[in-house]
Amino acid sequence: MLKPFIAANWKMNKTSQETEEFIHSFIPLVKDISDVDILLAPAFISIESASRLLKSSNVLLGAQNVYHEESGAFTGEISPDMLLAAGCSHVIIGHSERREYFSETDDIVNKKIKLARAKGLDVILCIGESLEERESDRTFDVLDGQLSGSLKDLSLEGITIAYEPIWAIGTGKTATDEQANETHVFIREWLGKNREGSENVRIQYGGSVKPENIKGLMSQPEIDGALVGGASLKPDSFAKIVAGASGK
Ligand code: PGA
Repeated sequence: MLKPFIAANWKMNKTSQETEEFIHSFIPLVKDISDVDILLAPAFISIESASRLLKSSNVLLGAQNVYHEESGAFTGEISPDMLLAAGCSHVIIGHSERREYFSETDDIVNKKIKLARAKGLDVILCIGESLEERESDRTFDVLDGQLSGSLKDLSLEGITIAYEPIWAIGTGKTATDEQANETHVFIREWLGKNREGSENVRIQYGGSVKPENIKGLMSQPEIDGALVGGASLKPDSFAKIVAGASGK
């Protein structure tokens, strides 16, 4: 059994002050939960203040993106070394919003993961199909392409996969527990066929996860956690999701 992993992806929400207010309320709500890995991924600009407040807590810190070069003339970008120095242990890579709005291809995602891993950051790699792809029965082909492209020449060490069907992100439509599990089974089998150590990789589900549906999702054998957007923005709601994953 893998330790459940619940991560908050705050996207472009919360100032530094709002981040601090969240953390002050959130830490007491989850301080006794030791059987779940908990992670917050605030905006870049809030990472340093979050890091100070999370230091002696049971909550991990991650970023939502990173650049695939070490340093230099890349205006506006953030490197793995900067994230590590600011206190991050994790980074989310390949989120569907990055793929869609910032033209991130599997090749770029692969470069980002390679550098992040080489520097020692753990990675949450996001994959998932669109509604059109699901409806035309192409889900597994799409995931196969994303996994082979994103993980090219990489081992599975330090990697978590977040399966996020695009049609379920921010829409209130969650995949059914069985639909999600069936896709997780496909991902687990893909990893097993193509890489060593697949049994240690946690596979999170993401897409409209809420306090009301976390238990059903976590009751599925192949769902090891969740990547949560909207419902992670309020301390009590996110704490309920963490509590819902405890005890698996
Ligand atoms: P959501 O977002 O929980 O708001 O659907 C999930 C995500 O995009 O990571």
